[in-house]
Parts: sequence; C-alpha cells; structure tokens
Amino acid sequence: MTVQDFIPKSYSKTVERGNVTWESPSNIALVKYWGKKENQIPANPSISFTLSGCKTKTTLSYSKKENTSDFSFEVFLEGEQKDSFKPKIETFFKRIEVYVPFVRDFHFKIETENTFPHSSGIASSASGMSALALCLMSVEMELTNDGYSENEESQKYFTNKASFLARLGSGSACRSLEGDLVAWGTHKEITGSSDLFGVKYPFKVHDNFKNYQDTILLVDKGEKQVSSTVGHGLMHNHPFAEQRFEQAHENLSSLIKIFKEGDVSKFIEIVESEALTLHAMMMTSMPYFILMKPNTLEIINKIWAYRTETNSKLCFTLDAGANVHLLYPENEKIQVLEFIKNELVAYCQNGHYICDQIGFGAKKLA
Ligand code: PMV
Repeated sequence: MTVQDFIPKSYSKTVERGNVTWESPSNIALVKYWGKKENQIPANPSISFTLSGCKTKTTLSYSKKENTSDFSFEVFLEGEQKDSFKPKIETFFKRIEVYVPFVRDFHFKIETENTFPHSSGIASSASGMSALALCLMSVEMELTNDGYSENEESQKYFTNKASFLARLGSGSACRSLEGDLVAWGTHKEITGSSDLFGVKYPFKVHDNFKNYQDTILLVDKGEKQVSSTVGHGLMHNHPFAEQRFEQAHENLSSLIKIFKEGDVSKFIEIVESEALTLHAMMMTSMPYFILMKPNTLEIINKIWAYRTETNSKLCFTLDAGANVHLLYPENEKIQVLEFIKNELVAYCQNGHYICDQIGFGAKKLA
C-alpha cells in the first residue's frame, strides 16, 4: 500500500452529527523505534507487545459546521477541559487532513480518559492517538456508503488507515491497535510490514510468550526533561545512527526465530540490550541527556541479581523515561510479584507500580 491509497476520492453521504467511542491500549516496544525520517517514517523497524490494562477511552462527538476555514474542537480529560492538549491535536489534524478531509467540516468534542493514573510517567500518546485515530475512522465510515463493509478487506483497510493516521499523531501509536505483537517499519522477513502503519505480527509465537506479564515500576512520575520528538531528532547526524538502525533489523530477525522456538533466554538478551541501546543513543547524542534515574539502575541491578539467584526469566525494558517495565512469563507471576513487593517497591515513587499483561488490541465501545 502507498500513501495515495489513504487519500479518499469523495464521501458519498452527508451526516449532521454523531458520536463514537473507542478504547485503545498502550504498547511496550521490544525492538525500539528511535530516529525518524520526514512524515513520521521510522528510521528502523520496531516491534511491541500490546498491553491490556493501560488504555485510553475516547469519545468523539461531531456536529456539522458551516465555516470550514479552521479546525474546531474542544478536549476534555477525565471530564475537565484540557486546552493544553489542543496544540498537539491541532498539529495532528493538520498532518492528517489530506487523508480525512472531513476534519474541517465538523466541530468535535473529544472526551478522553486513561485507565492508568494521569502523570504516572506512562506515555498516553500511543493509546490516546490510536483511540482518536480509530474514532476518526469510524466517522469516515459513516460518511462512506459503499467503501466499508464487514468483509475482511474493508476491515483491513480500516485498521491499516487508522494505524496510518495514529502514526502521524505519535509514531509508536501505530502499534496500538491490534494485539498482541505488532511490527512497524519495513523488514525484509516480515510479510506485509510497512513504514506507513503497524501490522499484526504474522508468524508463529511459542506458548512461552502467551499471556506474558508486564509490571511497570513507576520510578519517576515527573515530566520528562527531553521529549521523544527532540530525542528522535538527535538521531540525525548521530555518530552511531547507521549501526544502530542496522542492529534493529538484525534484532528483529533474531526475535522471529526466538518467538518461533520459545527461547526466553535469548529473548531476554535482545530485549535488555535494546532498552540499554535506546538509552545509550540518548547519552551519546549531541546534546546528550540521561532519562534514567538512580533508582532505574538500582532496579536493573536487583533484577540481574535475582535472575542469577533463582534462574528466573524475569527481564526489563525501558521506554523514553525512568520507569522500568518488568517482563516475565505468566508461570512466574506469584514469585515475581513477591520479589517486587519485597525488593523493588522501595525504588518506586510513592511505592507505585502497575500490573499489566499482553493484550488483544483496541475495541469499539459505542
Ligand atoms: O512514539 P514516540 O514518538 O513517542 O516515540 C516512542 C519511542 C520509544 O517509546 C522510546 C520506543 C518505541 O518504539 O516505542
């Protein structure tokens, strides 16, 4: 598919008003996206687990307006007007209007809420942007008489275009529509993979990875000092960029074999190396920066010691912040939660952590 496939010719129906609600999950990358080209095209392919507990629910109400010269919308977070979200959504609308030209024809009320605590340091951009993109696609469906139906091809187009739009809001959001493993970025071994949208991982995944657990240790709930937009930008002219992008391709190739064979030890090697490489890129960019906190390192060292002592398959990954995601097989749940309570809670801000696991993707609620 190409960008042209997402530009509609015209809409066949007129709709005065309506509303739609979607719930969309967050995701955690195993091979990280860090660095992009123009138009949110990733510099390397990535893959993520879709989460089931950390979600955003968004209701989009729309009513036809006369004046189409400007975008018109209001945003509410947990019932409260949130004007600080408007610039990001305005930028999003500007980027997507060629693909969903109806965005100028309606006044929108966007009501959104997260299942995870606000300002927990967990990025809500992936779940938030994918929920909004899905709502917009439902509006497009309303405006299209013949273009969408229940058949598989139409469903696939709907999901691909929603992921395509979500990507233009926040890159990693395009991996937040389907479960339970989603790849984004062209990779020679992954059938159907694309730089334009995320695709459900098409190959066999061993039962060892079924219901994989993710417990998020909230080390620092503050605002990040460096946004991911700035971080991605610093991969331009980065001294290690080319090797890093190449490594992401190789790591994804290794994961295909690992998922097939169920080799959790090798999985750990790739996932932890990816997390540390992401942060190494931050530390070696110009200007350089560090998003990990002392407690991030304390936790990592505790995990390594625990693995040596117990032969556990517990491992960690990081996103662009100080929080630590603990990934582990379902059959270790009781022991790992005990370990967290006894040894890791002390490193979490206010003792907070969130238990989650792999999930099955976004859902239309109304
Ligand atoms: O989607 P963005 O632009 O916020 O970038 C997210 C980048 C990482 O979370 C660090 C990695 C990833 O692949 O999700």
